[in-house]
Amino acid sequence: MAENNIRTVQQIMAILSSNVSMSNALAEALDQLRNELDADYAVIWLVNKDDQRLYAVAHSGDDPITGLSIEKSESYQGKVISGYEPEFISDISGDPHFPAGNEDITGLKTKNAYYVPMLLGKNTAIGCVQIVNKADGKYSESDISLCRLFAGITAMIINEKSFTFSHAADKKVIMSFRNVVKDYPSGSETLRVLKGVDLDIFENEFLVILGESGCGKSTMLNIIGGMDSMTEGSMQIDGKDFSHPTENQLTDYRRDYIGFIFQAYNLMPNLTALENIEFIAENCPNHGDPKEALDMVGLSSRAGNYPSMMSGGQQQRVSIARAIVKNPRLILADEPTAALDYSTGLEVLRVMEKLVKEKHTTIVMVTHNIEIAKMADRVVRFKNGKIASIQINLWPVSADELVW
Ligand SMILES: Nc1ncnc2c1ncn2[C@@H]1O[C@H](COP(=O)(O)OP(=O)(O)OP(=O)(O)O)[C@@H](O)[C@H]1O
Ligand SMILES: [Mg+2]
Repeated sequence: MAENNIRTVQQIMAILSSNVSMSNALAEALDQLRNELDADYAVIWLVNKDDQRLYAVAHSGDDPITGLSIEKSESYQGKVISGYEPEFISDISGDPHFPAGNEDITGLKTKNAYYVPMLLGKNTAIGCVQIVNKADGKYSESDISLCRLFAGITAMIINEKSFTFSHAADKKVIMSFRNVVKDYPSGSETLRVLKGVDLDIFENEFLVILGESGCGKSTMLNIIGGMDSMTEGSMQIDGKDFSHPTENQLTDYRRDYIGFIFQAYNLMPNLTALENIEFIAENCPNHGDPKEALDMVGLSSRAGNYPSMMSGGQQQRVSIARAIVKNPRLILADEPTAALDYSTGLEVLRVMEKLVKEKHTTIVMVTHNIEIAKMADRVVRFKNGKIASIQINLWPVSADELVW
């Protein structure tokens, strides 16, 4: 094996063993492989035993297709997974194994492709590695051994980490937004802040939105929460159109459907922790027990405290209890930990995690902190008013494993 390949394998192993987020690690390792081979893109496909489909779980290259799934028996992926041997196709045009519709989905023209099964033992394949459009169109002996080693190492590492496909497999969509545009007047001009956003929100997911300052994250969150309106586009709730609600419908929606958590806690200073929660509950028909909500965020013993007697993390937890007492379908959080230090921020994140796991709440959270995104089931990256990528996180880590 060539010297540079040994180095590449060492680098790939270092990435895979060091990174906390498995999805990230796989994508980075795949990047190394793709660069070494000089190919357009590379994908790791894994078999989901539950629905017998293959999911693209990591991707390197131009187009983010992570989340795509195909039949387990389909295409060359299916062929190498059942045949346990790699396949190289030097010219894929018109090939019967290659479904014609694929290029429409990925938007990439496929010239050549190499598929390597990810084997555990002789007759078990957990997925395959796909490398597309290697620039020189051929694989030397040493390229082949590099790919096989990569597939073998990743198979072993993935096999050790337990993960679920729950977010890749069919989940119920509770809200969907299509082609959302938002303009703000800016002097005599208009400023287009959202430029055609398509987003689905799944039931009981922890969705994190990342992106640079000013890219439109809060604007999108406010539109989701019915606190701001869109200039163009459509919105559906449980499959029903909600693009043009009346004022009354909007008020009901905000009250019954949404819990909002802001960076500033906005607690009423003259009310105790419990009274702050009771005050919100009184106005919501579907509300839960305020004491239970306080217990959920671990602050039962602080029921009688006024906000000024609590730390930032505790106040933020009261504001979370205030959101959850409404029993909302969706909790929206705009940088809820931005004003907090590490340990108090972590208290808040633990509560969020508990809500998703135990109360089956759906959370959409905006953050600047990439580390926090490792907790998410899905990570949506905004760039300049549009969604740049959506990543499914098959290995979400728990709040306690985060470090920043
Ligand atoms: N009410 C408003 N009127 C005019 N312009 C606005 C309004 N709200 C937001 N903007 C502009 O829209 C753009 C996007 O703002 P937004 O608050 O959504 O960004 P963001 O991604 O949340 O940024 P940050 O990370 O700094 O919070 C910014 O240029 C902002 O100045
Ligand atoms: Mg913002």
